[in-house]
Parts: sequence; structure tokens; C-alpha cells
Amino acid sequence: MKVLVIGTGGREHALSLALSRDPQVTEVHAAPGNPGMASIATLHPVDPLDGSAVADLAVRTGVDLVVVGPEAPLVAGVADAVREAGVACFGPSREAAQLEGSKAFAKQIMAAAEVPTAMARVCETPEQVADALDTFGAPYVVKDDALAAGKGVVVTDDREAALAHGVACDRVVIEEYLDGPEVSLFAITDGETVLPLQPAQDFKRALDGDEGPNTGGMGAYTPLDWAPEDLVADVCRRVLVPTVKEMASRGTPFQGLLYAGLALSSRGVRVVEFNARFGDPETQALLMLLKTPLSALLHGAATGRLGEVGLPQWHDGAAVTVVIASEDYPQAPVTGDRIEGVDEANALEGVDVIHAGTKIDEDGDLVTAGGRVLSVTAVGCSLAEARERAYAGVDLISIRGAHHRRDIALHLPS
Ligand code: AMP
Ligand code: GLY
Repeated sequence: MKVLVIGTGGREHALSLALSRDPQVTEVHAAPGNPGMASIATLHPVDPLDGSAVADLAVRTGVDLVVVGPEAPLVAGVADAVREAGVACFGPSREAAQLEGSKAFAKQIMAAAEVPTAMARVCETPEQVADALDTFGAPYVVKDDALAAGKGVVVTDDREAALAHGVACDRVVIEEYLDGPEVSLFAITDGETVLPLQPAQDFKRALDGDEGPNTGGMGAYTPLDWAPEDLVADVCRRVLVPTVKEMASRGTPFQGLLYAGLALSSRGVRVVEFNARFGDPETQALLMLLKTPLSALLHGAATGRLGEVGLPQWHDGAAVTVVIASEDYPQAPVTGDRIEGVDEANALEGVDVIHAGTKIDEDGDLVTAGGRVLSVTAVGCSLAEARERAYAGVDLISIRGAHHRRDIALHLPS
């Protein structure tokens, strides 16, 4: 099978790497890809947001499957354009991607499907914002209704800061604070059959000890030995299956990766957010342990034949990924700094360096080109071993001004 991966980040590098190691895959193409993907995929300089250009490329390269990685092209309808050109595509339609594209829409679907989530209000004026903040009380949770790459959410005890964020966005969702550990549970679906992956945990705050601003994710690990044994079955029954059914019943079936961001709150499991694509960086860790050929799952979903694939199988052991971010990420990431030590880190046992915001400059050097620069992903027999290997890789990489968390997969919920 020939596969084309759309996107440029860590998730797309991880997907391409897993596909390049999949015996059923003969060729991996990517558009536009990143320097880390150049050795495993043929890169094409095509704008990932341009549906007709992506569809043309898919036809021209004769691929059997297109995998759209990030949310922005999905929300822009790129998967629809590829399907209209007659090529199988993993990823929801423009309409179904609204599950991620609009937090207010996601809340409507959850209400209709009776999916447990935080109580919330959609606010458009400063008065509505102030009223909602006082109704729910501190800690305040204020979410930009539009796509914001994981950075549109402010969780704070400071009413002034919450109000300022609420007023700065056109439309916000203000909601009840959910306590308890967070879990990312992904499911692959063809719009009917729902196959859950194993749970992972992401570290969203920029600094050790879950301090600092929210980011797109600073690290992740899987599996979660501490999670309740019935978590996956419970979330399938109460969250994933009802959501997929609700989307189908509206005539906008959701096909692709349904990402449930969950809080295991003191009052039970609650959905914090839905995403319409693989999580980043959870995917980097998850795919290292996936035993089932990834192409079978993605192609099965894209062609409505997921029922024939069977539940995903996993390797024993654990995987950890640690993100290295550029100076001043997430506020105002500095780019153009040289990256050293990637080959040395990649040579370590069980370690893969996954690129995200990197590029080759005019001098032929690898430099930073985004907020999250790369992630060091490692597998091990235990979480401790995977963690040790990942940090051994991180310690070999040097980038001026860069920062990373030292406590990924360290303090686990009990
Ligand atoms: P979201 O983009 O909705 O996932 O929000 C980003 C992050 O903000 C989440 O991963 C949580 O850490 C935090 N967050 C969002 N909603 C809530 C909530 N209702 N209660 C507590 N924390 C939240
Ligand atoms: N890791 C969080 C996300 O992908 O949105």
C-alpha cells in the first residue's frame, strides 16, 4: 500500500515512521513533511491547507490512502477534497471536524448524546462572560471557541485574567472546573465501528509540576497502569460510541481519529475536549507500542471496513516522549537556532527523535522553526526504563534557549 501523510509536525513524523515500518506499506509520501521525515518518506512541497492541491498530489502519486494529520486542514475540508477525487482518506469531513473546530458544537453533540462533560455556557459579550465566571466560580475555565492549537484555554484562579481572556476572544465557552487526572483516549472509527487505542497521558502545562501556561503538550506516556481497569470499556460505552452514533444520525458521520480528552474527576469520567485527529505528542508514544499494522487500521477506517480489522494489539512495555520546545514557547517562540545532537540521540537503544518545528537553513544546518521543536520518544520494558532512555536522548540534544520538562511520566496519579 502507498500512503500520503499530510502535515508537518511531530504527529505526522510519528505516523510516517510507523507506516514506514509497517510491512504492508511500500511507499510513504508526505506533504509538506519535515526534515526528520525526509529519510523515510518522499516529501512534496504542497500546502496542506489547499484541498485541491492535496487531492491532485494524491492522484499524481497514485497513493491508496491519504492520512490528514492536523486539525486545520480537516476543518478546511481537505479530507473531503481527497475523497471527491476518488482516493481513500483517513480523517473526518469538514462538518464532522467541527467536533474539534468549535467547542460550542462539541458541547451540543455531547448534550444530545448524553456524554458526561463539564457544565458550560457560550458567551459573546463581556457581561455574559462576567456572569458565567461568577456562576461557576474559581478556578475559572475560559476557552476560545475557535481553533487555537491547544493554547486558547485559560485555567486560573485570577478573575481579572479569566475576564480578560473571555473579552479578548469573539466567542468563548466558560465552564465548570474539573478536578482529577487527565487521560487521552483515542479511537479509530469508520463512522460506525469504534476501535479504542490504549490510554495515554499528556502533560499540557509548560513547566515542571504542572505550572505555567497551557501548551500543545510537553510530553506523554503510555500505558497508564494506574488507570481503572474498566476505563476503556466505560469510555467506549458512555463517550465514544454515543458520539459516533450522534454524528452519524445527523448525516455527518465522523470517520478518522476521535480524541477524547478526559478528566477522571471525583464525580466520574468527564470529557474535557474532543479533537478530530491524533493527539500530539501522545501519538509519538502510542505508535511505538502498536503491534497491529497501522495501515490496516487507517485504511479500514477510510474505506468503511474497520469491522474486519479487529481490536488493536499492543507490545508489552511502555513508551515515553519528551518535547523540547524553543525559547519563549508557548508565548512567542524564537526560531532559527541550531539543533545539535539529533543523530547521537537517535542512535540510542529504543530511542527515536521525532521532528516537529525544524527546518534546514541556507547553510544546510538543522535549525528550529516552531514552538515545539522535536520530541525524544523511547520504549522500554518498564515506564522507568522508557523514561530513562528518553531523557538520555534529551540530554544529548542542545538548542540555545530551548526548554523541556524534567518530570514527564514521573509523578503518576495513584
Ligand atoms: P482543551 O483545549 O479544552 O483541552 O483544554 C486544554 C487544557 O485545559 C486541558 O487539557 C485541561 O488541562 C485544561 N482544562 C480544560 N477544561 C478544563 C476544565 N473544565 N476543568 C479543568 N481543566 C480544564
Ligand atoms: N496533546 C494535546 C493535543 O493533541 O491536543
